[in-house]
Amino acid sequence: MTSAQDNLKRQVGEAAVEYIDNHLANDSIVGVGTGSTANFFIDALAKIKHKFDGAVASSNASANRLKGHGIRVFDLNAVKDMTFYVDGADEADASKQLLKGGGGALTREKIVASVATRFVCIIDDSKLVNLLGQFPVPIEVIPMARSAVAREIVKQGGQPVLREGFFTDNGNIILDVHGLTIKPENARSLEARLNNITGVVTNGIFALRPADVLLISSTTGVTCRE
Ligand code: 5RP
Repeated sequence: MTSAQDNLKRQVGEAAVEYIDNHLANDSIVGVGTGSTANFFIDALAKIKHKFDGAVASSNASANRLKGHGIRVFDLNAVKDMTFYVDGADEADASKQLLKGGGGALTREKIVASVATRFVCIIDDSKLVNLLGQFPVPIEVIPMARSAVAREIVKQGGQPVLREGFFTDNGNIILDVHGLTIKPENARSLEARLNNITGVVTNGIFALRPADVLLISSTTGVTCRE
């Protein structure tokens, strides 16, 4: 059965295709995120696949879904310019800073987003928050550094929980960190500080490179914040 939230995710995925459609050239490459909202975007994107060259995926799961629709998937190393990166989020604040990584694809998501000119973030209104951090901050960690990184995070006031049985597409583990206060004005410094712990690959705070556009679906329709 389709939930009400799934309907909102579908709605905003379709709105994102409408949003980027006008700007796509035949030689465009679209950056594609990961997760259930991104999946709705991929399904809608398939309807205009004749209008662009292909996509770069932020996970193996999204790459497989794109290929299933007959959309060509490029290695990021073969791509220089990308106008749009479209992805969901676990939380977004008013300044378009995000918390991501619920699906564990945060590192590749951050890499693809860093190359795109415009990051279009697609969420339903349950993801809009005043303060980031109700959702734990996912941190991708090199496996041998798990305990060392966890001890350092505790020193910094967080409570890390290992995502049991989960490995990222890069072969690493995820620590979900609870209890961190992420005020809008300190999100960038916290993102940098966590990334600076030896053994951390990256963390799920997207503040140094926030979204440029937020598309937000609710029961009254989709709104756009630029
Ligand atoms: C995956 C992500 C997703 O964008 C985030 O978890 C939101 O997922 P969903 O659209 O399924 O609610 O960051 O790593």
